Amino acid sequence: MLAGRRIVLGITGGVAAYKAAYIARRLTEQGASVRVVMTPTATRFIGEATFAALTGFDPIVNLFGGDDPSPHTTLASWADVIVVAPATAATLAKLASGESSNALVATVLASTCPVVVAPAMHTEMWEHDATQENLTTLASRGYEIVRPESGELAGGDVGIGRLADPDTIIETITRVVASGPLAGVHVIVTAGGTREAIDPVRFIGNRSSGKMGNAIARVAAAQGASVTLVTAADDPDISGVVAVRVESADEMAEAVWSRLDTCDVAVMAAAVADFKPEKADTTKIKRTSGLPSIQLVPTPDVLQGVHESPNRPFLVGFAAETGTLEDAAAKAKRKGVDLLVANDVTSDGSGFGSDTNEVTFFYSDGTSKGLPLLDKDDVAKALWEEVHILRGAG
Ligand code: PMT
Repeated sequence: MLAGRRIVLGITGGVAAYKAAYIARRLTEQGASVRVVMTPTATRFIGEATFAALTGFDPIVNLFGGDDPSPHTTLASWADVIVVAPATAATLAKLASGESSNALVATVLASTCPVVVAPAMHTEMWEHDATQENLTTLASRGYEIVRPESGELAGGDVGIGRLADPDTIIETITRVVASGPLAGVHVIVTAGGTREAIDPVRFIGNRSSGKMGNAIARVAAAQGASVTLVTAADDPDISGVVAVRVESADEMAEAVWSRLDTCDVAVMAAAVADFKPEKADTTKIKRTSGLPSIQLVPTPDVLQGVHESPNRPFLVGFAAETGTLEDAAAKAKRKGVDLLVANDVTSDGSGFGSDTNEVTFFYSDGTSKGLPLLDKDDVAKALWEEVHILRGAG
């Protein structure tokens, strides 16, 4: 559920700071991208090198002196969620009053994403009216508070104030990040146009940019789904989306079919070549050798393989038509899909490369519904609404 998600882990100066190393490790193990921001006091409890090794990135400790002139705004706009664990009483006070006096609180102040706060401190500090009022303020702003537990504290004291179990903190992060109508749903989206090699230099390709598939993946991730994007276009680097780069129809088939055991919904927006050269030359075909003849053979039908799989997910196909959509209803039936999204790729603003698309949904009962010309993100939203309704009814 956390694969591809972008998490800023804020660490403040308390003895529980060592537990943040476990949190960073578990998050990265689950495929999340983690960046750490530490208060100067936190570095007295645990070293920056630990987090650099665990996350692959140097923690931010200072607002000045690094390569980035504005690390707090960079981190804030990058993050899907910010987690402050452990959060000391001093940091809670700074967050509540909107301070920006260190890199951590400045990052939180500059953010618009959800914030999870896991306080840890001595019992008296936790129970103090000032701390409780700060927590009430933060909760009223929508911060998720993971309350501390009772147990042994620094110096051998016992009472409430020990950092919550790190696994409870990770569960909270997962819930906060992967919420929405598609939470818990595993999705595969195909995008882009495959390339079928003629020789090391040339290929048979098509005009697909990947924009339609990228929009479908982006909206699914924003609605809480775990998304794998199998793309023959460039990796679009979308938060919450794990991209698998492929080139040919054969590679796309292998990448999709090998992932079906964990797939709930597959949306096939890629423009997959129907034919490929029987044999790709290993060296560049030379003009001086005369006019070549290229024997074509069929590629695997990726969608057909998904439909016939014992792990068949809910299946959405696309149909690229030219001039008229009159063949689309028959295609929906022939392909055995649950929903077919047809577009006329010769119509203005539709199909290949554009930021907009005009599509018609064809349902398995033979009915259809046309949509106006929309931004591709809005087409994707409408598609997921249909999937939601159709899966619910199924
Ligand atoms: O990427 P963009 O520039 O944003 O353009 C978007 C788009 C025009 C590519 C997209 O909206 C679209 O129409 N995608 C489907 C293109 C296509 O190959 O259509 P088709 O009618 O030839 O194929 C029907 C379905 O079978 C499609 O879901 C296709 O992914 C699938 N297919 C086709 C051939 C094959 N060998 N394997 C397949 O899985």
